[in-house]
Amino acid sequence: MKDFIAGLPKCELHLHIEGTLEPELKFDLARRNGIALPYTSVEEMRAAYSFDDLPSFLTVYYEGMQVLRTEPDFYDLAMAYLRKAAEQNVRYAEIFFDPQAHTSRGVPFDVVIRGLRRALIDADRQLGVRAQLIMCFLRDFQAEYAMATLLESLPYKEWIVGIGLDSDEKGNPPAKFAAVYERARQEGYLLTMHCDVDQDNSIEHIRQAIEEIGVDRIDHGVNILEDQRLVDLVLARGIGLTCCPISNGYVTDSMKAEGIRKLMELGVRVTVNSDDPAYFNGYVGENLVALQEELQLTREELARLERNAFEITWLPRHLKDAYLAEVDAYLA
Ligand code: HPA
Ligand code: ZN
Repeated sequence: MKDFIAGLPKCELHLHIEGTLEPELKFDLARRNGIALPYTSVEEMRAAYSFDDLPSFLTVYYEGMQVLRTEPDFYDLAMAYLRKAAEQNVRYAEIFFDPQAHTSRGVPFDVVIRGLRRALIDADRQLGVRAQLIMCFLRDFQAEYAMATLLESLPYKEWIVGIGLDSDEKGNPPAKFAAVYERARQEGYLLTMHCDVDQDNSIEHIRQAIEEIGVDRIDHGVNILEDQRLVDLVLARGIGLTCCPISNGYVTDSMKAEGIRKLMELGVRVTVNSDDPAYFNGYVGENLVALQEELQLTREELARLERNAFEITWLPRHLKDAYLAEVDAYLA
């Protein structure tokens, strides 16, 4: 099964580029930028990665990304991820970035996006991995800051396929960003947002995301299983869910594997992704292996997860079809 998963053509739809910053690169960037880190070794740094819920994870995540300062830093970050993706036969990725996590500490928006964009172009040419960017807003900042960031992104609209919403969900419901999402839709961006697992008001947040915001996709979202009306809405609208089993295991009580199984049985377009692989020790390949071992998934079911993912990508139909054909050929 591990060999089957290794060769399976894969699609990654829930990956925070800042969450791919491995300790080794963190040390390199700190050295390059003259920043002192509070750790003396990779082992010591990894040992400090202790979190058991979303806020405790986010503290480590924001602290870690402070070493990212210049355009080459963002290039190196994205290129390191895309090399890893190529090794795992990820054929296509939609990659989140958090511009406000950088602009809020003085790194200009254009430094971030130019570095990421250059890596995506090189990876397409050199590695054969295609990728697009999704710009996320930090939901624990004010909506006005998100709107200003949206406006700042408009000159780079051709480089961004859609928008997302992440960071601490507690007390920061989707409705807080209704005007930002409305403007983004008018600008032609596709829409997704985190509805993290087992949050306060998870059900109400998912309802707002679907009914008030009109999202095209939901990141995480397994809690729809607690409300049949939400399941019906997701099915009726063909909304895909980007689940992250290993991540779930770190920030909640489990990988939510049974929930993912149930979503598959219901015919929901559920997918498996890695979230923040440098912090959760697992890229998409390891996530598929972990889920397969937990649920005893068959080859057909693993292929179905990747079919779901390519189907809900924000790619034109002919490219979706080409990737779906790769999955089918591999399974055959
Ligand atoms: N949830 C919310 N915010 C995040 C996450 C996540 O899984 N990863 C990085 N920022
Ligand atoms: Zn996430």
